[in-house]
Amino acid sequence: MGAKIKGLGHTIPKKKISNQFFIDQGLDTSDEWIKERTGIETRYFTPDETGSSDLGYEAALDCLKNTNTDISEIDLILVATSTPDHNAFPSTACLIQEKLGCNNIPAFDISAACSGFCYALTTAEGFLATQKHKNILVIGVDCLSKISNMEDRGTCILFGDGAAAALVTKTADKNEGVIFSTIKANGSLANILQIPKGGSKYPFNETIAKEKSHFIEMDGSAVFKQAIKIVVSEIKQSLVSINLSTDNIDYLICHQANQRILDRICDNLKLPKQKCITNIKTFGNTSAASIPLAMSEFHKNHGFKKGDIIVLAGFGAGFTWGITIIKWT
Ligand code: UT7
Repeated sequence: MGAKIKGLGHTIPKKKISNQFFIDQGLDTSDEWIKERTGIETRYFTPDETGSSDLGYEAALDCLKNTNTDISEIDLILVATSTPDHNAFPSTACLIQEKLGCNNIPAFDISAACSGFCYALTTAEGFLATQKHKNILVIGVDCLSKISNMEDRGTCILFGDGAAAALVTKTADKNEGVIFSTIKANGSLANILQIPKGGSKYPFNETIAKEKSHFIEMDGSAVFKQAIKIVVSEIKQSLVSINLSTDNIDYLICHQANQRILDRICDNLKLPKQKCITNIKTFGNTSAASIPLAMSEFHKNHGFKKGDIIVLAGFGAGFTWGITIIKWT
């Protein structure tokens, strides 16, 4: 028994943030630098007192509407996020479950940073294979604006908030839906992208607040190089393992981290750039939401066609990564 994506939905917060916003805040940066080095022109931030559960709920509703699905048909909720409403518990999945009004079905969060959607899809695939579940809501949501140091020009300009959801259902046809998936991690690279303090090892205190070490810290150049190396190699290996080649790819949807990363991945794969779906210019890096958001937006505006081969490639903190290859139905 396999898994397929029956439909998608997404939401973004209302507050649009231009590159000028950071300059107005006194950050030593420029619109030209951000556009040229990242491809980002705008991103969206959630207001205070709005969290990942609120965005995730909106995306779930959009997905249910688009797939004409009643909430009573859902039997599992998986939420990929690094920005839960609460530290540790309750999980954002449980909060979304309560908002949707479907208590008593299992709901849990998956923490794999920007690879979270690929991790959650692969988890959904496993649950569907057990035959106990039929309709799984897989939600990717993050509000990285809430954990960014607005004085660090190397990180804060990159991130935006957003959410997207996919309805993942069973299929008996092994030649449709998710035709390949792999998820991997390398913890020895944990320090290139992390939130150093504020967790159980270094509980939040005044010193941490002053140091701002409870916010994202990144060795941007190391992440940049690892992302390209890992994603290109994994996509090539994944395609070979199912007897496909890059020529068979109709669409590549990578985690939207930096337009230059996406361009390099296409160049190294010798994949025409028009096959690479991007929305980083508008939304920035929305972490676990970025892949399903790009998918959902493209599907809404253009529509995937039956038989399209879509390669999803996630990478992010951990270091984690995941490749999912879908034959659209
Ligand atoms: O989803 C998580 C995954 N994250 C990523 O994939 C991010 C990957 N990394 C990147 O996208 C890029 O490394 C950045 C956009 C973060 C940085 O771009 P870069 O071309 O790698 O710049 P750099 O870090 O090598 O820095 C070059 C210069 C430095 O100045 P000096 O030391 O040469 O004087 C930086 O301080 O650019 C400076 N810089 C900036 N200047 C203006 C860094 N950020 C900014 C900025 N505005 N916002």
